[in-house]
Amino acid sequence: METKVFESAAQLVTALADELQKISECKRAVHVALSGGSTPTLWFEFLAASAFRDSIHWSHIHFWWGDERCVPPENPESNYGTASRLLFQKVNVEEENIHRIQGEEDPQVEKLRLSKELGKRLPIVNGLPQFDWIILGVGEDGHTASLFPGQYSLNANETVVAVRHPETGQARLSLTAPVIENARRVSYLAMGRAKRIIVNQILADRDPGLCSHLPAARIQSREGDTEWWLDRESALGIEGVAV
Ligand code: 6PG
Repeated sequence: METKVFESAAQLVTALADELQKISECKRAVHVALSGGSTPTLWFEFLAASAFRDSIHWSHIHFWWGDERCVPPENPESNYGTASRLLFQKVNVEEENIHRIQGEEDPQVEKLRLSKELGKRLPIVNGLPQFDWIILGVGEDGHTASLFPGQYSLNANETVVAVRHPETGQARLSLTAPVIENARRVSYLAMGRAKRIIVNQILADRDPGLCSHLPAARIQSREGDTEWWLDRESALGIEGVAV
């Protein structure tokens, strides 16, 4: 596992944009799953407003999501809606490269549809769809995507799960842990002071047993790299990490 610490969120999203540029230079279609929540919004805005808007080979990238709230795309809660508003409406991404989770549909129906689409569109490795890159946020309770502590078996034999947020009860659809672990690259993003405690708990914790129940601590790529992308605010206090 690699920890990258940046002086600021602005520097982090610039470096992350550079990674998207690099992966877009692959000659084949690459499959990238985006995080939901507010974490990626600064990155989306930067991509749309910087030279990356024109330099990234958008036609080479297929965009997916790690999870989605079961709401229509126009709902402010929609992860797809946020990415569309801040990024996709401002760059040259073709519709067929955007594979949103259809939050407006019945979760059980959409779960099956999405599972089938993943199985059809992505390379199958270890019997599971394989993403080139999955970008994840982390909740202050240690959840990631919509895999919440103690709520769902991380060893699901499914590709997609329909769950409910443990506090709000909001219906969610999420990639399962095995699919995330099957990715060639997993990058957790955590910026800002509010994430300092959970980041410390996950990264500084000497006793893995203490946080092994936390999805964001437990889920790592089995096929490639797992990284934590932090800024100064979220990284402060982690032993052995230069800030
Ligand atoms: C979602 C996310 C979720 C998110 C974390 C962090 O749909 O909410 O996928 O896993 O990444 O809850 O949320 P923030 O980015 O808003 O801090």
